[in-house]
Amino acid sequence: MINKEIETALQKQIELEAYASAYYLSMACWMDVEGFEGTAQYLYAQSDEERMHMLKIVHFINDNDGHAEVPSIDRPPKDFEDYHTCFNQVLKQEQTVTNSIHKITKLALSLDDHASHNFLQWYISEQMEEEKNVKSILNKLKIIGNDGSGLYLIDTELATMSPQPTGTVMEEKA
Ligand code: FEO
Repeated sequence: MINKEIETALQKQIELEAYASAYYLSMACWMDVEGFEGTAQYLYAQSDEERMHMLKIVHFINDNDGHAEVPSIDRPPKDFEDYHTCFNQVLKQEQTVTNSIHKITKLALSLDDHASHNFLQWYISEQMEEEKNVKSILNKLKIIGNDGSGLYLIDTELATMSPQPTGTVMEEKA
């Protein structure tokens, strides 16, 4: 049975993951209309991943005698300053999620809730991976600066780094 304090904390985490999903979806839309189709594909897929992160917590709560609640979330921004700003914001977003996961993990340990503590280990690894990926993109962007051909190349590379997001024409044909 899930500890009630942990359930409340995980419920807040559901909200964070749902917001991340909406935020990346909005950023993907902006990239798409700005002509960065590869980056849009990467961000559409990231948005799908965040929804999966949210669902994992929903199932964990419900499978352990809790009752997950579907969150209402703030509307994410529609417009972004430029390509670089987007990825700086992605890093900030991921760092917020990481801090939250670490806090809940610490709480689970202090409450002797070993099942939740074990469940959260997956998120700790996932966050390390996500932050590493964004930092790698930001490092490349530092080298590129505002060079158009560099941005074109990174856009092409990001298309290859991402699975086909859900809801695409290619997926419907498969
Ligand atoms: Fe699920 Fe990237 O935070």
